[in-house]
Amino acid sequence: MTTTPPAPTPAEQEALVDRISADSLTTRRDYLRIVATVSGGLVVGSTVVSAGVLHRHGDGTAPPLKVADRLPKGQAVTFNYPGEHDRAMAIRLTDGSVVGYSTVCTHLACGVLWRKQRGAEGELYCPCHEGVFSARTGEVTAGPPPRPLPRVVMVEDEQGAVWAIGTARSGETEEAGLCRQLADTDPVLAERAGCGRTDGAS
Ligand code: FES
Repeated sequence: MTTTPPAPTPAEQEALVDRISADSLTTRRDYLRIVATVSGGLVVGSTVVSAGVLHRHGDGTAPPLKVADRLPKGQAVTFNYPGEHDRAMAIRLTDGSVVGYSTVCTHLACGVLWRKQRGAEGELYCPCHEGVFSARTGEVTAGPPPRPLPRVVMVEDEQGAVWAIGTARSGETEEAGLCRQLADTDPVLAERAGCGRTDGAS
């Protein structure tokens, strides 16, 4: 079952940035997420973003987007991110983690659906040619799709609201996707976040 996401407000986005900025940084991955979110928050409303200069369809930089006030285990919510025509879905898995994907099938671009009852964690299913993707990884588990579903990077705030903060290409890790976008929009922040480091620090 999917639910309609509430519309985020600028105040809510600002509160998320404040909250995340105050969090302790435990890993490089967390730090990268925070930098990406803060960076996105700071440019909300700027002329560059409002003019759409930073956005490329399905593969762009967009401000953080709140997609649900709450997302119970086993539930999914659909939304559009990073652009208004980029269909996406967030799912809370049975272990409590939240994953996000583009719902544009990598075979012939049909819409991918959430099948909660399939297997231990549910699955993402494309009805056009019986394509199936893992809910946990987005990898293809059956059918003709040639590539995994591209990821949407999700975070959760202290109130339990779920936000989309970035995207990764098919087969790309969330961290690599965020680094690529940061490098495009703010190379200094990307370097501070450790993007491009090869020392294995995390
Ligand atoms: S379009 Fe999804 S399996 Fe063919």
